[in-house]
Amino acid sequence: MRILSGIQPTGSMHIGNYLGAAKQWLKLQEDHECFFMVVDLHALTVAQNPASFSKETKEKIVELLAIGLRPETCTLFLQSSVKEHAELAWIFNTITPVSELERMTQFKDKSKKHKQNINAGLLTYPALMAADILLYKTEGVPVGKDQEQHIELTRTIARKFNTTYGQTFAEPKSLIQPEGAKIMSLIDPTKKMSKSDGEANYLSLFEEPESIQKKIMRATTDKGKDIKYNPDKKPGISNLMTIFSLFANMPMKKVEQKFHGKGYAQFKKSLADLLVKELEPLRRKKQELLQRDLYIQEILRQGQRKASSVAQDTMKEVRKKVGLLSLE
Ligand code: TYM
Repeated sequence: MRILSGIQPTGSMHIGNYLGAAKQWLKLQEDHECFFMVVDLHALTVAQNPASFSKETKEKIVELLAIGLRPETCTLFLQSSVKEHAELAWIFNTITPVSELERMTQFKDKSKKHKQNINAGLLTYPALMAADILLYKTEGVPVGKDQEQHIELTRTIARKFNTTYGQTFAEPKSLIQPEGAKIMSLIDPTKKMSKSDGEANYLSLFEEPESIQKKIMRATTDKGKDIKYNPDKKPGISNLMTIFSLFANMPMKKVEQKFHGKGYAQFKKSLADLLVKELEPLRRKKQELLQRDLYIQEILRQGQRKASSVAQDTMKEVRKKVGLLSLE
């Protein structure tokens, strides 16, 4: 199966990104043809500081390597380094009804958050995402739950293209984890964990030990004192239990048994200790990789070469189907 997924460059990768998406990527790269990218063009839909943007982009590649993506087995690349993404997105823009785009939850949320900058790119974001996916004739897209709607729209766009111009794209499916597909904020456990909310809401994968302790001990819990998994009635403790279960590789029932009769404080202390232990090697690896600039550049060049060759083949076919005049 051909796999593709992406992550935005800005802000540090948080445990939601990891448990919902990137952890799957690590497994998939072992026995599938995988393309993973840092989606810098998507990130421009909110205002960025040019001086720090490219640095953050490189840092995101470093983070992906630090968690264990292996460029020997997967193609790791920058979205903007393969020009066909923007080209195919334009063509998809011409077959996507504005009403479909206006319905997207992410568009509605981001328009509320960035009232001063509701730009056209924010609206057409899913057409670029469809281009990312279909350019590689992707079959599986490993993502968290919040991206499911965009992948559904990608399928709609694939169908629309096929009926307009002839069979070209298969419809990709989203690969969503049964657990961890929506990790919630540490402060407001009814909202998803997001790097665009304040620092205290999310836990970076590369967080310092003292900060991990602090954030977990301060995380919002619920009324009562039992360590019982019940996301509707006890969203706070249930979210923390999901994080524990996934980092400890322990089924939820076992987590409940382990903490039976213990209080929230004791559970939080165990969770913080577990996270400090599990995240320490990632933090160390990131520091080490940040020194290896030439190595990172070489990986990105190699990724660009591999991704471009597939993307160019698809665009050749698309241009012909659409009837763009060829100069060859
Ligand atoms: P982004 O950068 O917001 O998030 C990267 C991945 O992390 C998942 N995720 C979560 N999973 C569980 N709990 C959470 N709280 C949580 N927050 C984020 C996201 O679902 C995502 O899988 N539009 C995408 C990037 C993108 C893309 C693509 C993905 C662009 N083109 C093509 C797949 C295929 C985004 O902004 O992800």
